[in-house]
Amino acid sequence: MRNRLIIIGAGGHGKVIADIAMKNGYTNIGFVDDRASGMCMGFPIVGICADMAALNDGNTDFVIAVGNNRIRRSIAERFDVSWAKLIHPSAQIGYGVTIGVGTVIMAGAVVNPDASIGRHCIINTAAVIEHDNMLGNYVHVSPNAALGGTVAVGECTHIGVGAAVRNNISICEDCVIGAGAAVVRNITEAGTYMGAPAKKKE
Ligand SMILES: CC(C)(COP(=O)(O)OP(=O)(O)OC[C@H]1O[C@@H](n2cnc3c(N)ncnc32)[C@H](O)[C@@H]1OP(=O)(O)O)[C@@H](O)C(=O)NCCC(=O)NCCS
Repeated sequence: MRNRLIIIGAGGHGKVIADIAMKNGYTNIGFVDDRASGMCMGFPIVGICADMAALNDGNTDFVIAVGNNRIRRSIAERFDVSWAKLIHPSAQIGYGVTIGVGTVIMAGAVVNPDASIGRHCIINTAAVIEHDNMLGNYVHVSPNAALGGTVAVGECTHIGVGAAVRNNISICEDCVIGAGAAVVRNITEAGTYMGAPAKKKE
């Protein structure tokens, strides 16, 4: 962990990440945002994305606070910096869990043994990632969503608020699973799925 943390994105998601960062011991926090200036959560917005090279002084960690998975991926691929991994102290992380850089795990989330979570994922408030799950890079699991055991989720897929995914299910990359959906069959084609049981939105 380095002295300073720069959070890319000063919106609501950035505030939640700043709160977790403080609980992880960061005191010197700043934001980068192309569309905002001034302060956020009492911390300064120190520049825009174009300033990233100057801000990367060797003593700074960075984290991306952008909920959109593809935008998060494009930012991560643009910059070669030290990406922070932030875990809220109330999250439960089981034995053998692996978590990629840039990933944020929020309050009350549970990640059970031998799950693997990729880079720059968001495991949102009170989400449940059961044992042996495999989440690709840039996945977002929204608040209160639950993935049963041995679920696989492909890169950039977004699981909506309160969605449920049955155990042993595989969801391919670039999907959106609607809020409250129940996924009971494998999903092999990118797209938006909603309802219980979840069906593809045409
Ligand atoms: C599924 C989803 C992506 C669809 O968004 P959309 O393409 O903009 O769809 P719309 O809001 O235009 O709704 C289209 C229809 O689907 C229905 N619908 C939308 N979301 C639905 C959901 N989650 N479950 C069931 N039906 C849904 C709407 O009622 C509407 O029905 P109608 O045509 O009969 O009126 C979105 O509603 C959703 O659930 N996103 C997840 C949001 C989330 O969890 N965010 C987390 C932030 S931390």
